[in-house]
Amino acid sequence: MTQPEAHKRAEELRRLIEHHNYRYYVLDDPEVPDAEYDRLIRQLESLESRHPELVTPDSPTQRVSGTPMDGFETVRHRVPMLSLGNAFSDQEVADFYRRVAQGLEREDIEFAAEPKLDGVAISLTYVDGLLTTAATRGDGERGEDVTANVRTIRAVPLKLHGQGWPALLEVRGEIYMPRSGFEAFNRRARELGEKPLVNPRNGAAGSLRQLDPQLTAKRPLAFFAYSTATRDNLPDTQFDTLARLKDWGIPVNPEVRRVRGLDGCLAYHQRIGTLRPTLGYDIDGVVYKVDRFDQQGFLGFVSKAPRWALAHKFPAEEEITRLLDIDVQVGRTGALTPVARLEPVFVGGVTVTNATLHNEDEIRRKDVRPGDWVMVRRAGDVIPEVARAIHERRRDVLPEFQMPETCPECGSAVERVEGEAVARCSGGLFCPAQRKHSIRHFATRKAMDIEGLGDKLVDQLVEEGLVHTVADLYLLTHEQLVSLERMGGKSAENLLKALEDSKHPPLDRLLYALGIREVGEVTAHSLAAHFGTMKALQQADEQTLTEVSDVGPIVAGHVAAFFQQENNLQVIQALSEAGVDWQALEEQGGEQPLAGEIWVLTGALSMPRIQAKNLLESLGAKVTGSVSAKTTMLLAGEAAGSKLAKAQKLDVKVISESDFVKLLQSYGVQIS
Ligand code: IVH
Repeated sequence: MTQPEAHKRAEELRRLIEHHNYRYYVLDDPEVPDAEYDRLIRQLESLESRHPELVTPDSPTQRVSGTPMDGFETVRHRVPMLSLGNAFSDQEVADFYRRVAQGLEREDIEFAAEPKLDGVAISLTYVDGLLTTAATRGDGERGEDVTANVRTIRAVPLKLHGQGWPALLEVRGEIYMPRSGFEAFNRRARELGEKPLVNPRNGAAGSLRQLDPQLTAKRPLAFFAYSTATRDNLPDTQFDTLARLKDWGIPVNPEVRRVRGLDGCLAYHQRIGTLRPTLGYDIDGVVYKVDRFDQQGFLGFVSKAPRWALAHKFPAEEEITRLLDIDVQVGRTGALTPVARLEPVFVGGVTVTNATLHNEDEIRRKDVRPGDWVMVRRAGDVIPEVARAIHERRRDVLPEFQMPETCPECGSAVERVEGEAVARCSGGLFCPAQRKHSIRHFATRKAMDIEGLGDKLVDQLVEEGLVHTVADLYLLTHEQLVSLERMGGKSAENLLKALEDSKHPPLDRLLYALGIREVGEVTAHSLAAHFGTMKALQQADEQTLTEVSDVGPIVAGHVAAFFQQENNLQVIQALSEAGVDWQALEEQGGEQPLAGEIWVLTGALSMPRIQAKNLLESLGAKVTGSVSAKTTMLLAGEAAGSKLAKAQKLDVKVISESDFVKLLQSYGVQIS
């Protein structure tokens, strides 16, 4: 780079950094993730180190950053509030360690190792044990007096506990917004149609800057101390100082440890990195501080950062990249999920090319469009998501995303139930994307229990075009199976036998295996017991379906919709033609000796009431809640009361539980 080019680039970087500073520190509305900001600073630092003549007094590298806002008094810090040097790799930590070891002329140095909270730095002054001033960092020399706001934060003691504190104590630490509070705050903001917070750190910064402390008081803020700016009545080390602060009622992060040597530091970084997703608050790294204050004093400072401390950062959890396109994926139940196709970006420690956009409403709410610059977030093992679009960077008129009207996999109509956020493919078992999922489910132990038909094999069968629907499983031949990769003759034989063995399921298992939405084992059993036959179930309308115990209008809707789909009926027909035989069960269930009867249950029964109800329904009786002239039988348990009296008055027949059991046995029903 020539000198004039370097000059131009430095100016450009400064302008950019100033702009982002303003967005971040003054407006509390950042346009770019921290990692992007850090990168610009590093670029400028490196440029200035190669061309020292370019350094200007007002360069962002020459001050900590931030301008006190109008509306708050300015506070001059007794001791400047400094920043920390950063490391992003183990090598950089090793370099730091070597410098410290050389400076102190010894090895085996002890450090206080602490999580690096991603919040807002604060200085708290206690005079005679009472909180007198709370000030933000500002430019490091002077900050803003936010005492009234900080007093509203419960984690900050207004009066120190215990005894032995000095007449003047200045504590420094971080105000932050716990994730749970952040999420709750945003949920409420959305309900009220207000603007949600961008992230917890921003939430904390914005809250502290409220001119009305009443508003701050409503924000869920917390505090952890990490150092002091005064030394009276305090121990000789960082670790013991934090312990002392804790004794005085000042919150200190519970993960702070004393570690030894480079290995101790790196092991700590590793451990906290693993804990990070579970912590309940955001951290962006760990901080190592030489533990002994005399050693700290010996090492001193370089420009605005101590030589005795280092921030070891984690990979950023948020990054920006370009949204290339929005595809639609079909899930297990036919749910259509819009998926962002991204220009590859390194975030949360991995390269991300796809991220979820949740659903159509989210896309509208965030106004995300293909071609936008977007903030991608990946925290812990969570699926990466597009957190928001950076509208300030949108240069062209971009088309809005439209959910397709037909399934991209099978062309069936896409349906979206009123009041539900999710759009679904109506193709059921014929949709290829749903096929793998449905076949996997069909084979599971609680469904058709087909041993040897695992997920990988299902994928292979579908991909090879051998199986389109669950019915095709029963048409597989030995020859076809052995042609598959990793399938030997013996395995093929075993699978064919398992398929053969699965051909005679009770109706409830088959219903469960078909994977009807919201129909789990229990509901499948209730449906089978109530209708007895597949045919009766297929013919039932929604109203009739809701008469089944455990079946409400939503489940009834799903069941009715399933059997209205021609594709699904064809699959059931094909199963039957392939020799899957639930006829036996239909015949058994078809015997309905109590058809037309209306029963009422009352009093305490020894069998669960739901079991009695299911049994009666499986024999064709209808079970209702109150006795009327239409009631044909009252099953009266112990201590039956008003219903029994009414039945006697209306001349309704009454049966005891022991006679009921005998009656059931006479129909061949065994009670477990
Ligand atoms: S020590 C001279 N310890 O990180 C040492 N800082 O880049 C000054 N931070 O503004 C800070 N957690 O707000 C220290 N355990 C910790 C910290 C921590 C978060 C923040 C702090 C400071 C920034 C330094």
